[in-house]
Amino acid sequence: MEVFKIRGGKTLSGSVKASGSKNAALPLFAATLLSSEESILENVPDLSDVRFMAEILRELGSEVEKLDRTTWKINPTNIVHAAPYELVRKMRASVCLLGPLVGRLRRAEIPMPGGCVIGNRPIDLHIRAMERLGAKVELKGGVVHIDDKDLRGNSIFMGGRHGSTVTGTANAIMAAVLAPGKTTIDSAACEPELSDLCAMLVSMGADISGIGSHMIEIEGVESLQGCRHRVIPDRIETATYVLAAAITKGKVTIRDGRTDHLGAFLNVMSECGVMVESDGSENLSVEVSEFGLKSFEAITLPYPGFPTDLQAQTCALACQADGLSILTERVYPSRFMHVPELLRMGAEISLEGASSIIRGGRPLTGAPVMASDLRASAALILAGLAAEGDTWVQRIYHLDRGYDAFEKKLQGLGADVERLPESEIPKAFLSQPG
Ligand code: EPZ
Repeated sequence: MEVFKIRGGKTLSGSVKASGSKNAALPLFAATLLSSEESILENVPDLSDVRFMAEILRELGSEVEKLDRTTWKINPTNIVHAAPYELVRKMRASVCLLGPLVGRLRRAEIPMPGGCVIGNRPIDLHIRAMERLGAKVELKGGVVHIDDKDLRGNSIFMGGRHGSTVTGTANAIMAAVLAPGKTTIDSAACEPELSDLCAMLVSMGADISGIGSHMIEIEGVESLQGCRHRVIPDRIETATYVLAAAITKGKVTIRDGRTDHLGAFLNVMSECGVMVESDGSENLSVEVSEFGLKSFEAITLPYPGFPTDLQAQTCALACQADGLSILTERVYPSRFMHVPELLRMGAEISLEGASSIIRGGRPLTGAPVMASDLRASAALILAGLAAEGDTWVQRIYHLDRGYDAFEKKLQGLGADVERLPESEIPKAFLSQPG
């Protein structure tokens, strides 16, 4: 396994380019199955989750070829309806295969996605959507069996206990575009990644209106053509670089950074004293106000609310902001695996139910820390950038799932970060408890 060694205290400067969005690319790969024709996806991030999804599509019978670092060709002429358990159980996003398989083949067999450290990942809303479209759904031996030979359009309500579901909405859309008749999806999630999915489906011949709203209307069509589609930039990666600039009090430009995808996050940054300006095209500039970083409050909500995928990284920034900050999780109430590791770096954080309360403004000190999931890994790296001394982040395979060339991009901004074999960790660190 590999680790990141970060020597803190460098002020970041310069320019970095946002890669394509992981959370757009994964459903887009799945959506190519809705046509029997070849599709090309461009601006795909170079991530282990993407390579994993490509492998699953191959197992389903697609020919999948990586044409260059960010371009993939998928030819799903002959596919089967059963996804391989060994691959699917390792990545929650593979649940996105449900909709396309039901839409194209009228049947699907998908292992139930496992839980993960950020919390329970149910799919009851996905199942409800398929049943509303005429499917018979059975759970046998941990596998969801869907038979939907009578697929037809219908009204679907996608709201759940924690608001809308992103991949649940994606599945409902992908099944409905080939369902005879009209489908309305009420309380649909409206994350930018879903708008990107709808844009690609329309380019394939789908009939979708209300894109980007909480009410989607679809007229089913007979079949869809192949397409060439460019993945939108990754808003979570973009915001992570905003936070990297802010936590080191640097001045950074982010190319392909879409301010229109960052709404509530920018409000929180402004409250904290982080100035983010757009140059009118797709470039952001970031710097901290002369008054420094100030405490703030944020509550995670479905889009356009503050993204849960930025909660851990923003907690790292709060450690450097004078005063008491409060971060409340309304999407995954137990998404606080980064907190114990930040405490090892001298952070002052207490957990009260679904909220973390951070007393910021005190220096962090480098330490050996353990990544637990994708966004917690990024939070620990951000903390390491600001900490005094060396921070060793272990299990960075979590990071490689969702951040494209993270250490190279940070090095390009002047960070002192290295990707090393685990054996390089100083023995003294390894004898520490925990
Ligand atoms: C997507 O996951 C993202 N993943 C997640 O990003 C992100 O955290 C999440 O949306 C919320 O924004 C991808 O897009 C691949 P949900 P998804 O279904 O769709 C509840 C990352 O770090 N729920 O929107 O699986 C669920 O418990 C990842 O990039 C139900 O109750 O999330 C949660 O509280 C992590 N029943 C809330 O909805 C369901 O059937 C949101 O979950 C489905 C979900």
